[in-house]
Amino acid sequence: MRPATLLIIEDEERMRRLLELVLKQEGYDLLLADSGEEGIRLLNHSGRIDLILTDLQLGHSSGLDVLEAAKRVLPGVPVLIITGFGTIKSAVEAMQKGAYDYISKPVDHDELKIVIARALEARRLSQDYHALQAGLHERFGFERIVGRSKALEEVKRLATEMARTDATVLITGESGTGKELLARAIHYAGPRAAGPLVAVNCAGIPETLLESELFGYEKGAFTDAKKAKPGRFQLADRGTLFLDEIGEMSPAAQAKLLRVLEDHTVEPLGATQGVKVDIRVIGATNQDLAELIKKGKFREDLYYRFNVCPLYIPPLRERREDIPDLLDAFLTTTCRERGLRLRGVSPDALAMLQRHHWPGNVRELHNVVEWITMSCREGDIRPEHLPSTLKASPESTSSAASPSSPVSLLSLGLSVEEVEKAMLKEALEKTGGNVSEASRLLKVTRNTLRYRMSKYHLGDPDESPERG
Ligand SMILES: Nc1ncnc2c1ncn2[C@@H]1O[C@H](COP(=O)(O)OP(=O)(O)OP(=O)(O)O)[C@@H](O)[C@H]1O
Ligand SMILES: [Mg+2]
Repeated sequence: MRPATLLIIEDEERMRRLLELVLKQEGYDLLLADSGEEGIRLLNHSGRIDLILTDLQLGHSSGLDVLEAAKRVLPGVPVLIITGFGTIKSAVEAMQKGAYDYISKPVDHDELKIVIARALEARRLSQDYHALQAGLHERFGFERIVGRSKALEEVKRLATEMARTDATVLITGESGTGKELLARAIHYAGPRAAGPLVAVNCAGIPETLLESELFGYEKGAFTDAKKAKPGRFQLADRGTLFLDEIGEMSPAAQAKLLRVLEDHTVEPLGATQGVKVDIRVIGATNQDLAELIKKGKFREDLYYRFNVCPLYIPPLRERREDIPDLLDAFLTTTCRERGLRLRGVSPDALAMLQRHHWPGNVRELHNVVEWITMSCREGDIRPEHLPSTLKASPESTSSAASPSSPVSLLSLGLSVEEVEKAMLKEALEKTGGNVSEASRLLKVTRNTLRYRMSKYHLGDPDESPERG
């Protein structure tokens, strides 16, 4: 195994030589610095450093400056502080600021060796842990994205490469194509997997609140600001900030965002000074940003910042090869969750699914699977189990689907329950409340219909007229 590299910062020459002697014998690789400045230079520019050992009093600089720089540049690398007599207070301060441990002078050699070995062991364990976690997430992340079409494979390949970097990523694509899913996979496949993933839907927050939500505010920044509040950017420190629907950001928020991307500084409302943040930003939108730029609604400079790493997920109708895999994946999970035993999709039903236009993309397909599992309980999924708009071929979609148009409702983002309720209502209205007829129209058994009527409080099924 490669010997660990220690950076030793000690301004007193005699002490530095002593440390060098003792630790060389232990087999470590050493980098030596005789001042705080030199130490900080080395930790910025040397390749790998596994541990930093610094004196607290370094002439005109302090070990605390080294500690601060190390925390920023090499987070996770343990820093051990050597303190002189009577500086325990500073040692405590160093511990509070994130030093791993401290050793007081005169330094006991055995104690020194033990403390260093222990710190390195802790670091190794935490690295193993992070590597393991990152590995798990990697599988978890990209594996959840189902589909083997060339187009999707290419998106996944590019995204996997981008995941390793800190570059700002822009994901575009129609609604329901899997932009959020992809953003999450990128976070979990990258070095920030152990850090937070903070998602903000810019369209979901009123414009007046967006700025304070994103950037936070200082106490007294406005009348109701009784105390300071960190923004989402600060909450995402050391992790990833996912900005969904970035096309919806106000001009003021866009200007601030640009600043964050340029110099990694967040300016909370009412603050006199910016706050450094260590974040990676992933943006997503289903709007045409180039079009928004033309209309003066999106900053061009911000667009170029984002467009360094663009990822475009094509709509489902342009990668129909993914449909069987997606169906299979969704059916498997839904059947497992509900304890159903569906065998598969009959060829003619599959053909219909393949022909559909999928305006709501993968989300719509997912909703259709939910639908299927309510109309078909076992055996093969046949055309009659599909929602009615799927049954119409694309050329004849104008012929009114009966009794309702679930797919268009589903692609509007309604829940399956809402759509189901709407369909039941419509069928009951059409048949004047006749359960048998309504059940035939809906292609469900009377019992199923009764059950669902009571679930949705749609009248009393036992009192409705029956005509056999
Ligand atoms: N390739 C895929 N494999 C598995 N599930 C997918 C895939 N693409 C999308 N989904 C699922 O479809 C649904 C919609 O995906 P997601 O929310 O990521 O879309 P989106 O592009 O962010 O949509 P919107 O623009 O409406 O926010 C989610 O439930 C997601 O898990
Ligand atoms: Mg989304």
